[in-house]
Amino acid sequence: MHYHDILIVGGGLAGLRAAVGLCERYDVGLFSKVHPIRSHSIAAQGGINAALANNPNSRDDTWEKHAFDTIKGSDYLADQHAVEIMCKEAPNIVYEMEHWGCPFSRFPDRSIAQRPFGGAGYPRTCYSTDITGHVLLNTLYERTVSKGVKVYPEWFVVDLVIENGQCHGVIAFDLINGKIIPIRARATLFATGGYGRVYFYSTNALINTGSGIGVAYKAGVPIKDMEFVQFHPTALIGTNILMTEACRGEGGYLINNKGERFMERYVPIAMELAPRDIVSRSIQTEIDEGRGFDHPLGKYINLDLRHLGENKIQEKLPGIRKISIDFIGIDPVHDPIPIMPSQHYSMGGIDTNIRCETEIKGFYGAGECACVSVHGANRLGGNSLLDTIVFGKLASFSIPEYLESDGLTTPDESFLLRKKEEIEKKIKRLTSEGSERPFSIQMDLSRTMSACVGIFRTKDELEKALVDIAGIKERYKRVKVSSPKLHMNYELMNTLELEFMLEVAHTIALGALLREESRGAHFRRDFPARNDAEWLKHTIARIGADGKPAISFKEVVITNYQPMERKY
Ligand code: FUM
Repeated sequence: MHYHDILIVGGGLAGLRAAVGLCERYDVGLFSKVHPIRSHSIAAQGGINAALANNPNSRDDTWEKHAFDTIKGSDYLADQHAVEIMCKEAPNIVYEMEHWGCPFSRFPDRSIAQRPFGGAGYPRTCYSTDITGHVLLNTLYERTVSKGVKVYPEWFVVDLVIENGQCHGVIAFDLINGKIIPIRARATLFATGGYGRVYFYSTNALINTGSGIGVAYKAGVPIKDMEFVQFHPTALIGTNILMTEACRGEGGYLINNKGERFMERYVPIAMELAPRDIVSRSIQTEIDEGRGFDHPLGKYINLDLRHLGENKIQEKLPGIRKISIDFIGIDPVHDPIPIMPSQHYSMGGIDTNIRCETEIKGFYGAGECACVSVHGANRLGGNSLLDTIVFGKLASFSIPEYLESDGLTTPDESFLLRKKEEIEKKIKRLTSEGSERPFSIQMDLSRTMSACVGIFRTKDELEKALVDIAGIKERYKRVKVSSPKLHMNYELMNTLELEFMLEVAHTIALGALLREESRGAHFRRDFPARNDAEWLKHTIARIGADGKPAISFKEVVITNYQPMERKY
Protein backbone atom coordinates (compact mmCIF):
# COMPACT_ATOMS: atom_id res chain seq x y z
CA MET A 1 0.00 0.00 0.00
CA HIS A 2 1.21 3.51 -0.87
CA TYR A 3 0.64 6.52 1.34
CA HIS A 4 0.74 10.26 0.59
CA ASP A 5 -0.72 13.17 2.51
CA ILE A 6 -2.20 14.40 -0.74
CA LEU A 7 -2.90 12.30 -3.76
CA ILE A 8 -3.32 14.08 -7.10
CA VAL A 9 -4.70 12.12 -10.02
CA GLY A 10 -3.88 13.66 -13.40
CA GLY A 11 -0.70 15.27 -14.74
CA GLY A 12 -2.19 18.05 -16.86
CA LEU A 13 -2.21 21.74 -15.98
CA ALA A 14 -4.71 21.52 -13.10
CA GLY A 15 -2.93 18.62 -11.40
CA LEU A 16 0.55 20.09 -11.85
CA ARG A 17 -0.50 23.54 -10.62
CA ALA A 18 -2.03 22.03 -7.51
CA ALA A 19 1.09 19.91 -6.91
CA VAL A 20 3.38 22.94 -7.24
CA GLY A 21 1.29 24.81 -4.67
CA LEU A 22 1.16 21.95 -2.17
CA CYS A 23 4.48 20.16 -2.37
CA GLU A 24 6.51 22.43 -0.10
CA ARG A 25 4.34 21.70 2.93
CA TYR A 26 3.01 18.24 2.23
CA ASP A 27 4.00 14.86 0.89
CA VAL A 28 2.30 14.92 -2.53
CA GLY A 29 2.03 11.96 -4.91
CA LEU A 30 0.94 12.75 -8.47
CA PHE A 31 -0.42 9.74 -10.36
CA SER A 32 -1.14 9.91 -14.07
CA LYS A 33 -2.33 7.51 -16.73
CA VAL A 34 0.35 8.91 -19.06
CA HIS A 35 3.56 10.84 -18.52
CA PRO A 36 2.50 14.37 -17.47
CA ILE A 37 3.76 16.05 -20.62
CA ARG A 38 1.59 13.73 -22.68
CA SER A 39 -1.51 15.02 -20.87
CA HIS A 40 -4.15 16.57 -23.08
CA SER A 41 -3.36 20.11 -21.86
CA ILE A 42 -0.40 19.86 -24.28
CA ALA A 43 -2.81 19.97 -27.22
CA ALA A 44 -4.31 23.37 -26.43
CA GLN A 45 -3.37 25.76 -29.18
CA GLY A 46 -4.91 29.21 -29.29
CA GLY A 47 -4.37 30.75 -25.88
CA ILE A 48 -5.38 31.69 -22.34
CA ASN A 49 -7.69 34.60 -21.52
CA ALA A 50 -6.77 37.39 -19.12
CA ALA A 51 -7.75 41.06 -19.16
CA LEU A 52 -4.18 42.39 -19.39
CA ALA A 53 -5.21 45.23 -21.73
CA ASN A 54 -1.96 44.84 -23.67
CA ASN A 55 -3.53 44.82 -27.12
CA PRO A 56 -3.81 48.41 -28.46
CA ASN A 57 -7.51 47.61 -29.12
CA SER A 58 -8.18 46.59 -25.52
CA ARG A 59 -6.74 49.33 -23.32
CA ASP A 60 -9.99 49.60 -21.36
CA ASP A 61 -10.46 45.87 -20.86
CA THR A 62 -11.14 44.75 -17.28
CA TRP A 63 -11.70 41.47 -15.46
CA GLU A 64 -15.36 42.46 -15.07
CA LYS A 65 -15.73 42.64 -18.86
CA HIS A 66 -14.05 39.26 -19.13
CA ALA A 67 -16.55 37.95 -16.56
CA PHE A 68 -19.48 39.39 -18.48
CA ASP A 69 -18.34 37.80 -21.76
CA THR A 70 -17.85 34.46 -20.00
CA ILE A 71 -21.31 34.56 -18.40
CA LYS A 72 -23.02 35.68 -21.61
CA GLY A 73 -21.09 32.98 -23.54
CA SER A 74 -22.23 30.41 -20.96
CA ASP A 75 -25.84 31.30 -21.86
CA TYR A 76 -26.21 32.36 -18.21
CA LEU A 77 -25.76 28.87 -16.80
CA ALA A 78 -22.33 29.61 -15.26
CA ASP A 79 -22.22 30.28 -11.52
CA GLN A 80 -21.34 33.94 -11.55
CA HIS A 81 -19.35 34.09 -8.30
CA ALA A 82 -17.06 31.38 -9.70
CA VAL A 83 -16.62 33.22 -12.99
CA GLU A 84 -15.73 36.41 -11.12
CA ILE A 85 -13.05 34.59 -9.13
CA MET A 86 -11.58 33.06 -12.29
CA CYS A 87 -11.52 36.26 -14.31
CA LYS A 88 -10.14 38.36 -11.45
CA GLU A 89 -7.34 35.84 -10.90
CA ALA A 90 -6.54 35.53 -14.64
CA PRO A 91 -3.91 38.31 -14.93
CA ASN A 92 -2.08 36.98 -11.82
CA ILE A 93 -2.03 33.50 -13.33
CA VAL A 94 -0.65 34.66 -16.66
CA TYR A 95 2.07 36.78 -15.04
CA GLU A 96 2.93 33.96 -12.64
CA MET A 97 3.38 31.59 -15.56
CA GLU A 98 5.43 34.23 -17.38
CA HIS A 99 7.69 34.63 -14.32
CA TRP A 100 8.08 30.86 -14.13
CA GLY A 101 9.47 30.93 -17.65
CA CYS A 102 6.54 30.45 -20.00
CA PRO A 103 7.57 31.83 -23.42
CA PHE A 104 4.49 33.84 -24.46
CA SER A 105 4.46 35.58 -27.84
CA ARG A 106 5.13 39.33 -27.54
CA PHE A 107 3.89 42.61 -28.95
CA PRO A 108 6.54 45.01 -30.35
CA ASP A 109 6.57 46.78 -26.93
CA ARG A 110 7.57 43.39 -25.37
CA SER A 111 4.31 42.99 -23.48
CA ILE A 112 2.52 39.63 -23.67
CA ALA A 113 0.70 39.41 -27.01
CA GLN A 114 -3.11 39.08 -27.04
CA ARG A 115 -5.37 38.07 -29.92
CA PRO A 116 -9.14 38.18 -30.52
CA PHE A 117 -11.14 35.02 -29.75
CA GLY A 118 -14.78 34.07 -30.17
CA GLY A 119 -17.42 35.62 -27.94
CA ALA A 120 -14.97 38.07 -26.37
CA GLY A 121 -15.59 41.81 -26.49
CA TYR A 122 -11.85 42.51 -26.46
CA PRO A 123 -8.70 40.83 -27.82
CA ARG A 124 -7.66 39.25 -24.50
CA THR A 125 -6.33 35.82 -25.42
CA CYS A 126 -2.64 35.57 -24.44
CA TYR A 127 -0.75 33.06 -26.56
CA SER A 128 2.45 31.47 -27.69
CA THR A 129 1.96 31.16 -31.49
CA ASP A 130 -0.40 28.16 -31.73
CA ILE A 131 1.19 25.96 -29.05
CA THR A 132 0.03 27.70 -25.88
CA GLY A 133 -0.90 24.49 -24.03
CA HIS A 134 2.47 23.00 -24.91
CA VAL A 135 4.47 25.86 -23.39
CA LEU A 136 2.28 26.16 -20.29
CA LEU A 137 2.44 22.45 -19.58
CA ASN A 138 6.20 22.24 -20.03
CA THR A 139 6.69 25.27 -17.80
CA LEU A 140 4.61 23.73 -15.01
CA TYR A 141 6.15 20.30 -15.45
CA GLU A 142 9.66 21.77 -15.12
CA ARG A 143 8.56 23.47 -11.92
CA THR A 144 7.06 20.23 -10.61
CA VAL A 145 10.33 18.43 -11.25
CA SER A 146 12.45 21.19 -9.74
CA LYS A 147 10.34 21.08 -6.58
CA GLY A 148 10.72 17.33 -6.31
CA VAL A 149 7.08 16.28 -6.57
CA LYS A 150 6.86 12.50 -6.64
CA VAL A 151 5.34 11.67 -10.03
CA TYR A 152 3.99 8.21 -10.90
CA PRO A 153 3.39 7.94 -14.66
CA GLU A 154 1.40 5.02 -16.16
CA TRP A 155 -0.88 4.53 -13.18
CA PHE A 156 -4.58 4.26 -13.85
CA VAL A 157 -7.08 4.89 -11.06
CA VAL A 158 -9.81 2.24 -10.97
CA ASP A 159 -11.74 3.11 -7.82
CA LEU A 160 -12.23 5.93 -5.36
CA VAL A 161 -12.30 4.80 -1.75
CA ILE A 162 -15.01 6.50 0.29
CA GLU A 163 -16.11 5.37 3.72
CA ASN A 164 -18.72 7.18 5.83
CA GLY A 165 -18.66 10.25 3.58
CA GLN A 166 -14.88 10.66 3.73
CA CYS A 167 -12.40 9.90 0.96
CA HIS A 168 -9.42 7.74 1.94
CA GLY A 169 -7.64 7.49 -1.42
CA VAL A 170 -7.91 5.28 -4.48
CA ILE A 171 -7.23 1.85 -5.88
CA ALA A 172 -4.88 2.11 -8.85
CA PHE A 173 -3.50 -0.09 -11.60
CA ASP A 174 0.29 0.28 -11.84
CA LEU A 175 0.75 -0.62 -15.51
CA ILE A 176 4.54 -0.79 -15.49
CA ASN A 177 4.75 -3.24 -12.61
CA GLY A 178 1.47 -4.96 -13.44
CA LYS A 179 -0.04 -4.58 -9.95
CA ILE A 180 -3.22 -3.32 -8.32
CA ILE A 181 -2.19 -0.98 -5.51
CA PRO A 182 -4.26 0.83 -2.87
CA ILE A 183 -3.09 4.40 -2.34
CA ARG A 184 -4.05 5.85 0.99
CA ALA A 185 -4.25 9.62 1.33
CA ARG A 186 -5.69 12.26 3.61
CA ALA A 187 -6.91 14.31 0.64
CA THR A 188 -7.45 13.30 -2.98
CA LEU A 189 -7.69 15.68 -5.95
CA PHE A 190 -8.95 14.51 -9.33
CA ALA A 191 -7.64 16.52 -12.28
CA THR A 192 -8.34 13.81 -14.81
CA GLY A 193 -9.64 15.77 -17.81
CA GLY A 194 -12.76 15.60 -19.93
CA TYR A 195 -14.94 12.98 -21.60
CA GLY A 196 -14.45 13.81 -25.29
CA ARG A 197 -13.69 10.26 -26.32
CA VAL A 198 -17.18 9.02 -25.57
CA TYR A 199 -17.74 10.65 -28.99
CA PHE A 200 -16.49 9.24 -32.28
CA TYR A 201 -15.60 12.64 -33.77
CA SER A 202 -13.47 14.44 -31.19
CA THR A 203 -10.45 16.73 -31.12
CA ASN A 204 -9.47 15.04 -27.85
CA ALA A 205 -6.57 12.72 -27.16
CA LEU A 206 -7.46 9.03 -26.84
CA ILE A 207 -6.81 9.33 -23.09
CA ASN A 208 -9.79 11.70 -22.61
CA THR A 209 -12.29 9.00 -21.73
CA GLY A 210 -13.87 10.79 -18.77
CA SER A 211 -12.89 7.84 -16.59
CA GLY A 212 -12.09 10.07 -13.60
CA ILE A 213 -15.62 11.48 -13.73
CA GLY A 214 -17.00 7.95 -14.08
CA VAL A 215 -14.92 6.66 -11.17
CA ALA A 216 -16.19 9.46 -8.94
CA TYR A 217 -19.79 8.96 -10.08
CA LYS A 218 -19.69 5.22 -9.48
CA ALA A 219 -18.31 5.85 -6.00
CA GLY A 220 -21.35 8.05 -5.23
CA VAL A 221 -20.06 11.56 -5.99
CA PRO A 222 -22.61 13.79 -7.79
CA ILE A 223 -21.75 15.00 -11.28
CA LYS A 224 -23.16 18.13 -12.90
CA ASP A 225 -24.40 19.44 -16.28
CA MET A 226 -23.16 16.43 -18.23
CA GLU A 227 -25.42 17.20 -21.23
CA PHE A 228 -23.36 20.28 -22.07
CA VAL A 229 -20.80 19.11 -24.60
CA GLN A 230 -18.83 21.58 -26.68
CA PHE A 231 -18.33 21.05 -30.42
CA HIS A 232 -15.40 23.02 -31.80
CA PRO A 233 -16.28 24.56 -35.16
CA THR A 234 -13.02 23.76 -36.90
CA ALA A 235 -11.47 20.29 -36.84
CA LEU A 236 -9.41 19.00 -39.77
CA ILE A 237 -11.49 16.73 -42.00
CA GLY A 238 -10.76 13.04 -41.63
CA THR A 239 -8.51 13.46 -38.58
CA ASN A 240 -10.51 15.66 -36.15
CA ILE A 241 -7.31 17.49 -35.26
CA LEU A 242 -8.03 20.90 -33.77
CA MET A 243 -7.61 23.86 -36.14
CA THR A 244 -7.39 26.54 -33.51
CA GLU A 245 -9.93 29.33 -33.13
CA ALA A 246 -6.87 31.56 -33.49
CA CYS A 247 -7.12 30.89 -37.25
CA ARG A 248 -10.30 32.99 -37.15
CA GLY A 249 -8.93 35.27 -34.42
CA GLU A 250 -6.08 36.16 -36.79
CA GLY A 251 -8.61 36.89 -39.55
CA GLY A 252 -9.47 33.54 -41.23
CA TYR A 253 -12.79 33.14 -43.06
CA LEU A 254 -15.33 30.32 -43.16
CA ILE A 255 -16.52 29.71 -46.73
CA ASN A 256 -19.26 27.44 -48.12
CA ASN A 257 -19.51 25.80 -51.57
CA LYS A 258 -21.10 28.96 -52.98
CA GLY A 259 -18.03 30.95 -52.04
CA GLU A 260 -19.96 32.80 -49.31
CA ARG A 261 -18.71 33.95 -45.90
CA PHE A 262 -21.89 32.44 -44.56
CA MET A 263 -21.52 33.67 -40.97
CA GLU A 264 -22.92 36.93 -42.36
CA ARG A 265 -26.27 35.13 -42.44
CA TYR A 266 -26.13 33.98 -38.80
CA VAL A 267 -24.25 36.59 -36.74
CA PRO A 268 -23.20 39.54 -38.93
CA ILE A 269 -21.98 41.50 -35.91
CA ALA A 270 -19.45 38.83 -34.88
CA MET A 271 -19.02 36.77 -38.07
CA GLU A 272 -16.44 33.98 -37.55
CA LEU A 273 -15.81 35.16 -33.97
CA ALA A 274 -19.22 34.36 -32.56
CA PRO A 275 -19.08 31.89 -29.63
CA ARG A 276 -18.33 28.28 -30.57
CA ASP A 277 -21.81 26.84 -30.07
CA ILE A 278 -23.22 29.30 -32.60
CA VAL A 279 -20.41 28.89 -35.16
CA SER A 280 -20.62 25.07 -34.94
CA ARG A 281 -24.39 25.13 -35.48
CA SER A 282 -23.97 27.53 -38.40
CA ILE A 283 -21.40 25.26 -40.08
CA GLN A 284 -23.56 22.19 -39.49
CA THR A 285 -26.58 24.01 -40.96
CA GLU A 286 -24.61 24.94 -44.07
CA ILE A 287 -23.59 21.30 -44.48
CA ASP A 288 -27.10 19.96 -43.77
CA GLU A 289 -28.63 22.35 -46.30
CA GLY A 290 -26.26 21.28 -49.07
CA ARG A 291 -23.77 24.13 -48.98
CA GLY A 292 -20.84 22.03 -47.80
CA PHE A 293 -18.15 20.29 -49.85
CA ASP A 294 -17.86 16.52 -50.33
CA HIS A 295 -14.94 14.44 -49.12
CA PRO A 296 -14.67 10.66 -48.92
CA LEU A 297 -14.53 11.06 -45.12
CA GLY A 298 -17.49 13.41 -44.76
CA LYS A 299 -18.84 16.81 -45.69
CA TYR A 300 -16.90 19.93 -44.90
CA ILE A 301 -16.60 23.72 -45.02
CA ASN A 302 -13.48 25.68 -45.94
CA LEU A 303 -11.38 27.60 -43.44
CA ASP A 304 -9.57 30.11 -45.61
CA LEU A 305 -6.35 31.71 -44.38
CA ARG A 306 -4.83 32.55 -47.75
CA HIS A 307 -5.49 36.29 -47.52
CA LEU A 308 -3.40 36.43 -44.31
CA GLY A 309 -0.26 35.77 -46.35
CA GLU A 310 2.62 33.42 -45.75
CA ASN A 311 4.47 35.64 -43.28
CA LYS A 312 1.53 36.02 -40.90
CA ILE A 313 0.57 32.35 -41.15
CA GLN A 314 4.14 31.30 -40.46
CA GLU A 315 4.52 33.74 -37.56
CA LYS A 316 1.14 33.21 -35.83
CA LEU A 317 -0.05 29.78 -36.93
CA PRO A 318 3.01 27.67 -37.77
CA GLY A 319 1.60 24.53 -36.13
CA ILE A 320 -1.63 24.77 -38.12
CA ARG A 321 0.33 25.06 -41.35
CA LYS A 322 2.51 22.07 -40.47
CA ILE A 323 -0.41 19.87 -39.34
CA SER A 324 -2.35 20.67 -42.53
CA ILE A 325 0.63 19.79 -44.72
CA ASP A 326 1.63 16.70 -42.75
CA PHE A 327 -1.82 15.17 -42.31
CA ILE A 328 -3.73 16.04 -45.49
CA GLY A 329 -1.14 17.54 -47.84
CA ILE A 330 -2.71 21.02 -47.89
CA ASP A 331 -0.65 24.15 -47.37
CA PRO A 332 -2.98 26.85 -45.98
CA VAL A 333 -0.79 29.50 -47.60
CA HIS A 334 -2.07 28.26 -50.97
CA ASP A 335 -5.32 26.37 -50.28
CA PRO A 336 -8.21 26.55 -47.80
CA ILE A 337 -8.31 24.01 -44.96
CA PRO A 338 -11.25 21.54 -45.05
CA ILE A 339 -12.90 21.51 -41.63
CA MET A 340 -15.95 20.16 -39.82
CA PRO A 341 -17.21 20.62 -36.26
CA SER A 342 -16.09 18.02 -33.77
CA GLN A 343 -16.55 17.31 -30.06
CA HIS A 344 -13.97 19.37 -28.18
CA TYR A 345 -14.74 20.06 -24.53
CA SER A 346 -16.76 18.76 -21.58
CA MET A 347 -18.58 21.53 -19.77
CA GLY A 348 -20.02 18.99 -17.33
CA GLY A 349 -18.10 17.08 -14.71
CA ILE A 350 -17.68 16.36 -11.02
CA ASP A 351 -19.84 18.77 -9.01
CA THR A 352 -17.38 21.08 -7.24
CA ASN A 353 -17.60 24.47 -5.55
CA ILE A 354 -15.25 27.46 -5.79
CA ARG A 355 -12.91 25.72 -3.31
CA CYS A 356 -12.72 22.64 -5.57
CA GLU A 357 -14.57 20.69 -2.87
CA THR A 358 -17.08 17.96 -3.64
CA GLU A 359 -19.83 16.64 -1.42
CA ILE A 360 -17.35 14.05 -0.09
CA LYS A 361 -14.93 15.18 2.64
CA GLY A 362 -11.34 15.03 1.43
CA PHE A 363 -12.24 14.61 -2.25
CA TYR A 364 -11.57 17.50 -4.65
CA GLY A 365 -11.83 18.15 -8.39
CA ALA A 366 -10.18 20.72 -10.69
CA GLY A 367 -9.85 21.38 -14.41
CA GLU A 368 -11.96 19.84 -17.14
CA CYS A 369 -13.09 16.86 -15.04
CA ALA A 370 -14.75 19.30 -12.63
CA CYS A 371 -17.84 21.46 -13.10
CA VAL A 372 -17.59 24.49 -10.82
CA SER A 373 -19.33 25.86 -13.04
CA VAL A 374 -17.41 28.60 -14.82
CA HIS A 375 -18.41 27.66 -18.38
CA GLY A 376 -22.10 26.96 -17.94
CA ALA A 377 -23.71 25.79 -21.16
CA ASN A 378 -20.90 26.91 -23.48
CA ARG A 379 -17.24 27.65 -22.79
CA LEU A 380 -15.44 30.54 -24.47
CA GLY A 381 -12.21 29.67 -26.26
CA GLY A 382 -9.20 30.54 -24.10
CA ASN A 383 -11.06 29.99 -20.81
CA SER A 384 -10.13 26.33 -20.50
CA LEU A 385 -6.41 26.76 -19.88
CA LEU A 386 -7.35 29.52 -17.47
CA ASP A 387 -9.81 27.32 -15.57
CA THR A 388 -7.21 24.55 -15.14
CA ILE A 389 -4.52 26.78 -13.66
CA VAL A 390 -6.81 28.97 -11.53
CA PHE A 391 -8.63 26.06 -9.94
CA GLY A 392 -5.46 23.95 -9.61
CA LYS A 393 -4.06 26.87 -7.63
CA LEU A 394 -7.24 27.30 -5.56
CA ALA A 395 -7.21 23.60 -4.70
CA SER A 396 -3.71 24.12 -3.32
CA PHE A 397 -5.20 26.71 -0.91
CA SER A 398 -8.28 24.82 0.20
CA ILE A 399 -6.78 21.35 0.68
CA PRO A 400 -4.38 22.49 3.46
CA GLU A 401 -7.29 24.10 5.32
CA TYR A 402 -9.04 20.75 5.26
CA LEU A 403 -5.95 18.85 6.37
CA GLU A 404 -5.54 21.18 9.30
CA SER A 405 -9.19 20.91 10.39
CA ASP A 406 -10.33 18.75 13.31
CA GLY A 407 -12.31 15.54 13.22
CA LEU A 408 -10.64 13.71 10.34
CA THR A 409 -10.72 9.98 10.81
CA THR A 410 -7.66 7.91 10.02
CA PRO A 411 -8.03 5.86 6.85
CA ASP A 412 -8.84 2.27 7.61
CA GLU A 413 -6.29 0.10 5.77
CA SER A 414 -8.41 -3.03 5.80
CA PHE A 415 -11.16 -1.17 3.93
CA LEU A 416 -8.70 -0.26 1.15
CA LEU A 417 -7.42 -3.83 1.03
CA ARG A 418 -10.94 -5.18 0.62
CA LYS A 419 -11.49 -2.75 -2.27
CA LYS A 420 -8.24 -3.94 -3.86
CA GLU A 421 -9.45 -7.53 -3.70
CA GLU A 422 -12.73 -6.58 -5.37
CA ILE A 423 -10.81 -5.02 -8.27
CA GLU A 424 -8.57 -8.06 -8.59
CA LYS A 425 -11.66 -10.27 -8.77
CA LYS A 426 -13.16 -8.05 -11.42
CA ILE A 427 -9.96 -8.25 -13.48
CA LYS A 428 -9.95 -12.02 -13.17
CA ARG A 429 -13.47 -12.11 -14.57
CA LEU A 430 -12.68 -9.70 -17.39
CA THR A 431 -9.70 -11.76 -18.48
CA SER A 432 -11.28 -15.21 -18.22
CA GLU A 433 -14.96 -15.06 -19.21
CA GLY A 434 -17.02 -13.47 -21.97
CA SER A 435 -16.74 -12.98 -25.71
CA GLU A 436 -17.44 -9.30 -26.52
CA ARG A 437 -14.43 -7.31 -27.77
CA PRO A 438 -13.93 -4.08 -25.79
CA PHE A 439 -12.84 -2.13 -28.85
CA SER A 440 -16.02 -2.97 -30.71
CA ILE A 441 -18.16 -1.93 -27.72
CA GLN A 442 -16.33 1.37 -27.48
CA MET A 443 -16.75 2.04 -31.21
CA ASP A 444 -20.48 1.42 -31.01
CA LEU A 445 -20.80 3.68 -27.97
CA SER A 446 -18.90 6.55 -29.57
CA ARG A 447 -20.81 6.23 -32.87
CA THR A 448 -24.11 6.33 -30.99
CA MET A 449 -23.05 9.47 -29.14
CA SER A 450 -21.91 11.26 -32.31
CA ALA A 451 -25.04 10.23 -34.23
CA CYS A 452 -27.69 10.82 -31.56
CA VAL A 453 -26.30 13.26 -28.95
CA GLY A 454 -24.56 15.76 -31.22
CA ILE A 455 -24.76 19.43 -32.11
CA PHE A 456 -28.52 19.24 -32.83
CA ARG A 457 -30.64 16.95 -30.67
CA THR A 458 -34.22 15.66 -30.67
CA LYS A 459 -36.30 13.59 -28.27
CA ASP A 460 -36.38 10.64 -30.70
CA GLU A 461 -32.60 10.63 -31.18
CA LEU A 462 -31.92 10.95 -27.47
CA GLU A 463 -34.33 8.14 -26.64
CA LYS A 464 -32.60 6.00 -29.26
CA ALA A 465 -29.23 6.84 -27.68
CA LEU A 466 -30.50 5.69 -24.28
CA VAL A 467 -31.83 2.42 -25.72
CA ASP A 468 -28.52 1.85 -27.52
CA ILE A 469 -26.49 2.64 -24.40
CA ALA A 470 -28.60 0.18 -22.37
CA GLY A 471 -27.88 -2.51 -24.99
CA ILE A 472 -24.17 -1.68 -25.02
CA LYS A 473 -24.11 -1.90 -21.20
CA GLU A 474 -25.57 -5.40 -21.47
CA ARG A 475 -22.82 -6.34 -23.94
CA TYR A 476 -20.22 -4.95 -21.55
CA LYS A 477 -21.27 -7.59 -19.02
CA ARG A 478 -19.87 -10.16 -21.47
CA VAL A 479 -16.68 -8.27 -22.35
CA LYS A 480 -13.43 -10.24 -22.57
CA VAL A 481 -9.84 -9.01 -22.41
CA SER A 482 -7.43 -11.12 -24.49
CA SER A 483 -4.54 -11.44 -22.07
CA PRO A 484 -4.57 -12.06 -18.29
CA LYS A 485 -1.16 -10.38 -17.88
CA LEU A 486 -1.26 -7.06 -16.04
CA HIS A 487 2.09 -5.63 -17.16
CA MET A 488 1.39 -2.81 -19.69
CA ASN A 489 -1.95 -4.35 -20.56
CA TYR A 490 -3.59 -1.41 -22.29
CA GLU A 491 -6.49 -3.53 -23.46
CA LEU A 492 -7.28 -4.26 -19.83
CA MET A 493 -6.94 -0.61 -18.85
CA ASN A 494 -9.21 0.44 -21.72
CA THR A 495 -11.77 -2.17 -20.74
CA LEU A 496 -11.81 -0.93 -17.16
CA GLU A 497 -12.23 2.61 -18.48
CA LEU A 498 -15.02 1.55 -20.78
CA GLU A 499 -17.26 0.79 -17.83
CA PHE A 500 -16.89 4.43 -16.74
CA MET A 501 -17.38 5.73 -20.29
CA LEU A 502 -20.70 3.92 -20.43
CA GLU A 503 -21.86 5.67 -17.26
CA VAL A 504 -20.63 9.04 -18.50
CA ALA A 505 -22.43 8.58 -21.83
CA HIS A 506 -25.60 7.53 -20.02
CA THR A 507 -25.66 10.70 -17.91
CA ILE A 508 -24.98 12.92 -20.98
CA ALA A 509 -27.84 11.41 -22.99
CA LEU A 510 -30.26 11.37 -20.07
CA GLY A 511 -29.49 14.97 -19.08
CA ALA A 512 -29.95 16.01 -22.73
CA LEU A 513 -33.30 14.24 -22.95
CA LEU A 514 -34.62 15.75 -19.73
CA ARG A 515 -33.51 19.32 -20.55
CA GLU A 516 -36.39 20.47 -22.73
CA GLU A 517 -34.90 23.77 -23.89
CA SER A 518 -31.93 24.97 -25.94
CA ARG A 519 -29.09 26.64 -24.08
CA GLY A 520 -25.50 27.12 -25.20
CA ALA A 521 -24.12 23.94 -26.71
CA HIS A 522 -27.27 21.94 -25.92
CA PHE A 523 -29.62 22.55 -28.85
CA ARG A 524 -32.96 20.72 -28.99
CA ARG A 525 -34.63 21.04 -32.39
CA ASP A 526 -37.92 20.23 -30.63
CA PHE A 527 -37.35 22.93 -27.95
CA PRO A 528 -35.37 25.59 -29.83
CA ALA A 529 -35.71 28.42 -27.26
CA ARG A 530 -33.93 28.99 -23.97
CA ASN A 531 -36.39 28.67 -21.11
CA ASP A 532 -35.13 30.48 -18.02
CA ALA A 533 -38.44 30.09 -16.21
CA GLU A 534 -38.05 26.31 -16.04
CA TRP A 535 -34.46 25.48 -16.93
CA LEU A 536 -32.14 28.08 -15.45
CA LYS A 537 -30.69 25.33 -13.26
CA HIS A 538 -27.87 22.82 -13.15
CA THR A 539 -28.50 19.13 -13.73
CA ILE A 540 -27.10 16.88 -11.02
CA ALA A 541 -26.68 13.14 -11.63
CA ARG A 542 -25.83 10.69 -8.90
CA ILE A 543 -25.83 6.94 -9.08
CA GLY A 544 -29.10 5.54 -7.72
CA ALA A 545 -29.64 2.44 -5.61
CA ASP A 546 -30.66 0.60 -8.81
CA GLY A 547 -27.35 1.55 -10.46
CA LYS A 548 -29.09 4.03 -12.79
CA PRO A 549 -28.60 7.82 -12.75
CA ALA A 550 -30.89 9.68 -10.36
CA ILE A 551 -31.34 13.26 -11.55
CA SER A 552 -31.98 16.37 -9.47
CA PHE A 553 -31.44 20.08 -10.09
CA LYS A 554 -29.53 22.89 -8.44
CA GLU A 555 -29.84 26.68 -8.52
CA VAL A 556 -27.51 28.79 -10.67
CA VAL A 557 -25.65 31.49 -8.72
CA ILE A 558 -26.42 34.93 -10.13
CA THR A 559 -24.47 37.92 -8.81
CA ASN A 560 -24.34 40.99 -11.06
CA TYR A 561 -25.42 39.77 -14.47
CA GLN A 562 -29.15 39.15 -14.94
CA PRO A 563 -29.89 36.66 -17.72
CA MET A 564 -30.61 38.46 -20.99
CA GLU A 565 -31.38 37.27 -24.47
CA ARG A 566 -28.09 36.21 -26.05
CA LYS A 567 -27.81 37.40 -29.63
CA TYR A 568 -24.29 36.03 -29.95
O1 FUM B 1 -9.24 26.78 -30.68
C1 FUM B 1 -8.44 26.66 -29.78
O2 FUM B 1 -7.28 27.03 -29.82
C2 FUM B 1 -8.93 26.06 -28.54
C3 FUM B 1 -8.93 26.78 -27.47
C4 FUM B 1 -9.76 26.36 -26.35
O3 FUM B 1 -10.43 25.33 -26.44
O4 FUM B 1 -9.79 27.09 -25.36
